[in-house]
Amino acid sequence: MKQPSEGAKLTISLTVNGKPMELTVEPTERLLDTLRYRLGLPGAKEGCGEGECGACTVLLDGLPVNSCLVPTFQARGRHVESVESIAPGELAPMLRCGATQCGACTPGVVVTARWIQQHPELTVDRTPRELMAGNLCRCTGYDGIMDGLAEWMNAGADKGGAAS
Ligand code: FES
Ligand code: FES
Repeated sequence: MKQPSEGAKLTISLTVNGKPMELTVEPTERLLDTLRYRLGLPGAKEGCGEGECGACTVLLDGLPVNSCLVPTFQARGRHVESVESIAPGELAPMLRCGATQCGACTPGVVVTARWIQQHPELTVDRTPRELMAGNLCRCTGYDGIMDGLAEWMNAGADKGGAAS
């Protein structure tokens, strides 16, 4: 994609959590800030701000990205899904299994878990733990997260495949 010149604003069309919209953005505006401060979607969190912790994870065209590293203009014509797109009821397995303690990592963990839950074929070559390597958690030791993800995936399988 052609990079915008410094200081020039761009008007882009994108879809956020299924809602089409148009935004005018500075070239340096981060997707994380657009979601949190413009669109009132505070689910994605800023941890490190450097692409290390995964607390800011969202799905961009169905793939997990660190929204702290994505300039919003790069979401032009694409689909963004934040943790707010996931129905609270779907998160019951994660909560039941102790996947969250302080909660700092939880939005990013849940978004990545959602990606895995929707694509069980990913676990043929890699373990869920490997697939979640980009999401750091200092509280849970990851056992609760992995147990919750397994239960979430089983719930999808019981319905005849990954949940949509
Ligand atoms: S805040 Fe984006 S990876 Fe840590
Ligand atoms: S629950 Fe505290 S960092 Fe994961």
